[in-house]
Amino acid sequence: MAEAILHVHRGDASGGALEEYRVPLEEGMVVLDAIHHIQGHQAPDLAVRWNCKAAKCGSCSAEVNGRPKLLCKTRMDAYPPGAPIVVQPMRTFPIVKDLVTDVKWNYEVNKRIAPFTPKKDAEWRWMQEDIDRVQEFRKCIECFLCQDVCHVLRDHRLHERFIGPRVLVHVAALEMHPLDVADRLPELRAEHGIGFCNITKCCTTVCPEGITITDNAIIPLKERLVDRFYDPIRSFMRMIGID
Ligand code: SF4
Ligand code: SF4
Ligand code: FES
Repeated sequence: MAEAILHVHRGDASGGALEEYRVPLEEGMVVLDAIHHIQGHQAPDLAVRWNCKAAKCGSCSAEVNGRPKLLCKTRMDAYPPGAPIVVQPMRTFPIVKDLVTDVKWNYEVNKRIAPFTPKKDAEWRWMQEDIDRVQEFRKCIECFLCQDVCHVLRDHRLHERFIGPRVLVHVAALEMHPLDVADRLPELRAEHGIGFCNITKCCTTVCPEGITITDNAIIPLKERLVDRFYDPIRSFMRMIGID
């Protein structure tokens, strides 16, 4: 039977290295299957987080050959036969052990966003066309692969100044909701660092749910900021108190 060679990160916050494992290849195998085979036959203490094995819980996020991936959605036959497949933890978050990272920073950042605030006496009925735009954002499975790939967090480590694409999707879902009346734009500009995003679209490329993060969430938010804070006519209207 053909074998796959995997180089898997072993270690924790104090340090680590890649270790080589060989796994029998089976048809339809995904990288998570190979990791489970290693756990079952060679390294029972290998740490990996997973739950659904159906690309829906967002917990098996890691990096395969340096690219953010869901391990349960990444097929082994997507890689050249015989060449080692490198499996590492997400680089943007602190490592816990082996392939498991601590992603609680994302939840902490989420808490800083004003929650859904419906208008008073809202009529809780709306047309499908009013909700079409935000429905896409509700597909997010919080895998944080988009946060992992974003160079502002990954390379520049600006976790204190930029909330990242996943949380911008959350803000967009709230801002574009037909019943929401909270105003998140001042914080978005001043504290949440949307200006750091240079719309490279890497986040969109890695999203396993196919959410068009940059075009449908981030760019419309940037446009709203420009309208609010940099449009000269709006500025003049604000100056004379009619906006
Ligand atoms: S488009 Fe913006 S948020 Fe997305 S990866 Fe690029 S810089 Fe980060
Ligand atoms: S937006 Fe996509 S990549 Fe980002 S956390 Fe949600 S599902 Fe994952
Ligand atoms: S195990 Fe749930 S997304 Fe991979």
